[in-house]
Amino acid sequence: MEIRKVAVIGAGVMGAGIAAHLANAGVPVLLLDIVPEGAEDRDALAKGALERLRKAKPAAFMHRGAARLVTPGNVEDHLERLAECDWIIEAVVERLDVKQALYRRIEAVRRPDAVVSSNTSTIPRARLVAGLPEPFAASFLITHFFNPPRYMRLLELVAGPEVRPEAVEAVAAFCDRRLGKGVVRCKDTPGFIANRIGIFWMQTALAAAIEQGVPVEEADAVLGRPLGIPKTGVFGLADLVGIDLMPHLMESLLATLPPGDPLRAVAEVPPVVARMIAEGYTGRKGKGGFYRLRRDDGGRLK
Ligand code: NAI
Repeated sequence: MEIRKVAVIGAGVMGAGIAAHLANAGVPVLLLDIVPEGAEDRDALAKGALERLRKAKPAAFMHRGAARLVTPGNVEDHLERLAECDWIIEAVVERLDVKQALYRRIEAVRRPDAVVSSNTSTIPRARLVAGLPEPFAASFLITHFFNPPRYMRLLELVAGPEVRPEAVEAVAAFCDRRLGKGVVRCKDTPGFIANRIGIFWMQTALAAAIEQGVPVEEADAVLGRPLGIPKTGVFGLADLVGIDLMPHLMESLLATLPPGDPLRAVAEVPPVVARMIAEGYTGRKGKGGFYRLRRDDGGRLK
């Protein structure tokens, strides 16, 4: 099986970044999102994401012409075009119901030999395919890219016993050779490997810094490079990942982690996060996150 054209559904933080990374590797991409409510241009969300990628600093498109490889559209009007794609990557909101509803629509139009994969951070593959038709499950993987997709080399790959071996091998080889990823095959557990550890670290550090009133810059100065972690530290990472993703991650983990798992004890969203989301502090994708809050109101995190 050869991967010549890819669809990415969900043009948010991850979907847009994955689309740009594919385009930089010379791969044509169909980038789809939902129709914005009340908007005149039905493709506005995906087009807006493409525009932001074009203007991004550092530039999201590394090669002249790479941006032209990405075709933006909405999922309602362009769903049939998934039949042109060899690999369909789902990167929509971290909610089981939304993802499964989309899979049913994908299954109605995809070519039987096309692979579908999810970029989920936490939801086990078995839950994602539960109740879906067998042919879909046989073509469905988790390909978990890390943020930002252009720079983070790790890609977690989860398959199941029913998956066609040629689909697994084709995606693994493509991610390794064309996308420059270090592919790690993971067991189908909540949060896989990196988030199982990373979310524990992040939640513990966030809770301690908030509880002890440590300013975000000071916390990150300690929790970043000195610990061998990128300079974002913990609050900077939350701003990059998206504050609005945090409750979805915790809900998903609490729904799947076994009783007594130590991660359960820290899988609570700090109260400040709910206030931040309500006030639009969703991180870099919105008006800013913890760093902006600190500037705006002196960093009241409790
Ligand atoms: P986001 O909120 O930035 O973007 C999600 C996009 O999906 C939005 O543009 C939304 O309009 C669109 N969408 C929602 N429902 C849709 C549907 N039915 N059809 C088409 N588009 C739809 O989310 P983000 O952060 O990009 O996360 C996407 C996925 O990637 C989630 O599963 C998340 O857990 C995972 N992930 C996120 C990372 C991060 O750092 N933000 C890192 C790795 C994985």
